Amino acid sequence: MTLREEVEIRKTFAIISHPDAGKTTLTEKLLLFGGAIREAGTVKGKKTGKFATSDWMDVEKERGISVTSSVMQFDYDDFKINILDTPGHEDFSEDTYRTLMAVDSAVMVIDAAKGIEPQTLKLFKVCKMRGIPIFTFINKLDRVGKEPFDLLEEIEKTLDIETYPMNWPVGMGPSFFGIIDRKKRTIEPFRDEENLLHLDEDYQLTTSHAIESDSAFEAAIEELMLVDEAGESFDEAKLLTGDLTPVFFGSALANFGVQNFLNAYVDFAPMPSGRLTEEGDVVEPFDSAFSGFIFKIQANMNPAHRDRIAFMRIVSGAFERGMDVTLTRTGKKLKISRSTSFMADDTQTVNHAVSGDIIGLYDSGNYQIGDTLVGSNQKFHFEKLPQFTPELFMKVSAKNVMKQKHFHKGIEQLVQEGAIQLYRTLYTNQIILGAVGQLQFEVFEHRMNSEYNVDVVMEPVGKKIARWIENEEAITDAMNSSRSILVDDRFGNKVFLFENEFATRWFEDKFPDIKLYSLL
Ligand code: G4P
Repeated sequence: MTLREEVEIRKTFAIISHPDAGKTTLTEKLLLFGGAIREAGTVKGKKTGKFATSDWMDVEKERGISVTSSVMQFDYDDFKINILDTPGHEDFSEDTYRTLMAVDSAVMVIDAAKGIEPQTLKLFKVCKMRGIPIFTFINKLDRVGKEPFDLLEEIEKTLDIETYPMNWPVGMGPSFFGIIDRKKRTIEPFRDEENLLHLDEDYQLTTSHAIESDSAFEAAIEELMLVDEAGESFDEAKLLTGDLTPVFFGSALANFGVQNFLNAYVDFAPMPSGRLTEEGDVVEPFDSAFSGFIFKIQANMNPAHRDRIAFMRIVSGAFERGMDVTLTRTGKKLKISRSTSFMADDTQTVNHAVSGDIIGLYDSGNYQIGDTLVGSNQKFHFEKLPQFTPELFMKVSAKNVMKQKHFHKGIEQLVQEGAIQLYRTLYTNQIILGAVGQLQFEVFEHRMNSEYNVDVVMEPVGKKIARWIENEEAITDAMNSSRSILVDDRFGNKVFLFENEFATRWFEDKFPDIKLYSLL
């Protein structure tokens, strides 16, 4: 296969949802179709007590939430599909954001009874900012939920995106009969999937069937006529710019509507796209020279080994195991001999990978999030991965002063992973951690203890407004006040942590020459 042919069969997406909407269940069903797993419950089995593939860490198991994103590849219909799972919990939205930088499309799972939930909204906005195509799966039709029209309207209004229903449900909950494929004009019955029914041009069943007199069926046909009358065509160009989302109804748990969804996904999802560099160029997937970037680092995936794995999205060229690459941040040349790909319940050595693929590199401390790796003699950096403005802060120190070495190593590694942000006070060098959500602190504390064997003392500094400074040289000691703390971030940039909005405004009024800014 040529590089072009290999890239053209790749599809890489992130799956996003509010916790409990059914993301894990849908992922599992997709993997079943891909033959990547053989039985349900392999990806997750909270109730069966089985270990979830996407939940690596103890803390995730304890809480039943997925803290970190995981990556899985499967083959379907001549395509190679990479799914990137994302943590549903909003405290880890920075991690999700970085994952979204590594994909070319997103699948949004919505619980039909709940509609758009806060976390969906937040993640969706991120997709919108990136302008990536979004596919919507409205889940749990086997339970009573909101009316389909109301759901579509909610998506359109809250998310400011056009919707295009690809199928239409007949009933829901106990009266759920099945889904109508709008293009094929077939009805797939929920309880008898093999026996497709067909609609003619006048919305009549081509063969007589008991449901004809059913009120749910009549209502669904009326609704379908309305949808068809509206006459909106399925605009692929709008899908590709993230301005229209195709909507699928189904039940992940019952594995119903999932394959229709997958078939449409492979038909319409884009192949891997290029990425911008800080130098202002676009690196295209077919460019023959290899390049990629690290969007995630995960420590200790296998408790038996103290491994760290850096996840790399390949942007261009072909990766071959054993190849020499350059880490552009440091200029260091590295030979990549230990590389892995991820399956549902397994990792495999990967010898060859191309644009769109995500591979894991065993890391002994070389990589940081956002690093660019290039082959041959290129020298550029992919655009920086976004960093969130943290809102919560904690002073942290080691309980036992004899453990300083482990303490600093733990902090350094967890910060490099992007698990938490690090700041230091100017004169006293006190370490202050910054987070987007409280759970990040809890995970930090847990991991310092379980992975680095250090008990930490955490002292809340509270909620602060962090502002970076464009013209740092203009800062003077006179600007210190009891309502702000001036700290260094881990790159040595100065940051004010203001007590509240009032203190921020007071500062801006008093020192108008100081240019403050926030991150995302
Ligand atoms: P998440 O990854 O988005 O957090 O959701 P997950 O797949 O874990 O699903 C959350 C719960 O919803 C699970 O229940 C799951 O079985 C259920 N679920 C998923 N898809 C469907 C569906 O199509 N129909 C119905 N009725 N339920 C669905 P659970 O964790 O086993 O237990 P519980 O939350 O029901 O107590």
